[in-house]
Amino acid sequence: MCGIIACIGSDDAVGELLTGLENLEYRGYDSAGIAVQNGSGIAVRKKAGKISELKDTIARDVSNGTIGIGHTRWSTHGPPTDKNAHPHTSRTERVAVVHNGIIENYEAIRRKLIAEGYEFRSETDTEVIPHLVEYYIDQGMGVEEAFKTTVGELDGSYAVALMVHGTDTVYAARQDSPLVVGVDDGRYYLASDVPAFLDFTDEVVYIENGEFARVRPNELVITDRDGNVVDRDVETVEWSAEETGKGQYAHYMLKEINEQADALANTIAGRIGEDGTVELEAFPPGTFGGIDEVEFVACGTSYHAALYGAQLLRRAGIRTYASLASEYDTSTVSDGTLVVAVTQSGETADTLTALRAAQDAGAETVAVTNVVGSSAAREADHALYIRAGPEIGVAATKTFSSQVVTLALLGHQLAEDLEQGRPREDAAEFFEELRKLPDHIATVLETTRAKEISEEYFDKKSYFFIGRDNEFPVALEGALKFKEITYEHAEGFASGELKHGPLALVTEETAVFALFTGQNGRETRKNAEEAHTRSADIVAVATDGTDVGEFADNVLWVPKTHPDLAGLLANVQLQLVSYYTADLLGREIDKPRNLAKSVTVE
Ligand code: M6R
Repeated sequence: MCGIIACIGSDDAVGELLTGLENLEYRGYDSAGIAVQNGSGIAVRKKAGKISELKDTIARDVSNGTIGIGHTRWSTHGPPTDKNAHPHTSRTERVAVVHNGIIENYEAIRRKLIAEGYEFRSETDTEVIPHLVEYYIDQGMGVEEAFKTTVGELDGSYAVALMVHGTDTVYAARQDSPLVVGVDDGRYYLASDVPAFLDFTDEVVYIENGEFARVRPNELVITDRDGNVVDRDVETVEWSAEETGKGQYAHYMLKEINEQADALANTIAGRIGEDGTVELEAFPPGTFGGIDEVEFVACGTSYHAALYGAQLLRRAGIRTYASLASEYDTSTVSDGTLVVAVTQSGETADTLTALRAAQDAGAETVAVTNVVGSSAAREADHALYIRAGPEIGVAATKTFSSQVVTLALLGHQLAEDLEQGRPREDAAEFFEELRKLPDHIATVLETTRAKEISEEYFDKKSYFFIGRDNEFPVALEGALKFKEITYEHAEGFASGELKHGPLALVTEETAVFALFTGQNGRETRKNAEEAHTRSADIVAVATDGTDVGEFADNVLWVPKTHPDLAGLLANVQLQLVSYYTADLLGREIDKPRNLAKSVTVE
């Protein structure tokens, strides 16, 4: 999992590469580097650590150029060191390469090159690429042929960009790792993701799996595996550079929590018809008439959204399961199975593997994703976008809310299709409340006491999150968010399970966040009381007007809404508690240790 960037025809390659890398830092941040063509050759600067450290090094000594490549890394092969940082170069330093992905057969290629007298300077899989390209150039091939021949020998996933001294061209290839070209009046950018170059252009061309790009000033040529030129339209993206910046907020996470009302308004926009039916642009009425079972596959926060969504679909009478993508097996797939991959980034390796397995087993597939043109969106039979806008903080926040609402809409469409177009009986009531949800979220954000609660409990030893029905996935999500950014011990449980084991862990140093936003408050109340009797502090997250009795030491209130949606309001409160606790503890909120925004390794 890494980010790559290239600029071609630039007036300030060094400056643009560094800007691009800063915008891509969410993809990995353990080392970074750039290579720039200047008068004397290819100048490479790379360094373990954050991009700011690389910037300090470069400010001192690199002369500028018009073409360059850059990389920000999240280690897979070899630890984060200066040597393992990209770009990697060939032995004469004529060829420089940046790569995102994994070369599975790199050891075999490495052995072959060592036998030819090549020496390796890093422990990475990537380093085989510049050496192999140079090997073929030395055998008499032109640069493009050498690059394509090399890529033809690679097994695995890659988005790779290559530069050779003395040419004004960047060569690139894509297989199972994202790659997009930014177009700006004869100047070009290549990157893993659009925000990398949004400061410069919003015109993009997506590169597909198996394709190559040859890019020089005023010329972009895309070819397929067989060398045929591909004619692809330039698209305009709607995200602005401002949207991908932090604005007035101290952290992306806080900004993204605060964007949830707008994000949800976008998720819903134009998707509820006046007659009470769902209008999902990707799916004309009747699309799912033949479906009799739905299987969700997802990881992390997206899995929690899938668990929540699965409950909503089951309540609509649709047989639905949610599986962790890494645990998914296709044994239950039949003719009527719809497999839905839920993935914010659309690039999560475990989820893509599950999606591909489902396709191999004959299932119809949908990708529910935030990233237009992502691998999941391209590979699934249908793509349904959650429209939450870019999410930069490693901790997923606004995308959880938009995922759940998108799955709810999908559930309504499925129910309609199975009932010959008739909306569900409860559709009108649900949609009325759904339309109010952005306002309710705004109310939570304005009135929350999450900061005070965090100040009161930030020195506890353990944090439990409990709930029933759709509160249960929210409890799991609350605990994941909390451990991810505070580094403190946190667990989510179904309320009823507390007494079956976890209660043994409860002491006066435990804080229990108990959810009272659904229809089973009476049972959860008993479970919370059991913990309270054993000295735990209880923070109830409750719908306005709920009787949370004397056992609750504190309450975070949420407005009254449809019970299917109330868990989303509770989740916003829990996101804020995690955020403020992490802030009090001085954690790196947007880039928690050991984690990356999108995990493209299995
Ligand atoms: O991009 P995806 O939704 O497929 O990512 C799945 C998980 O890696 C992701 O949700 C992860 O758990 C988040 N960092 C949680 O905040």
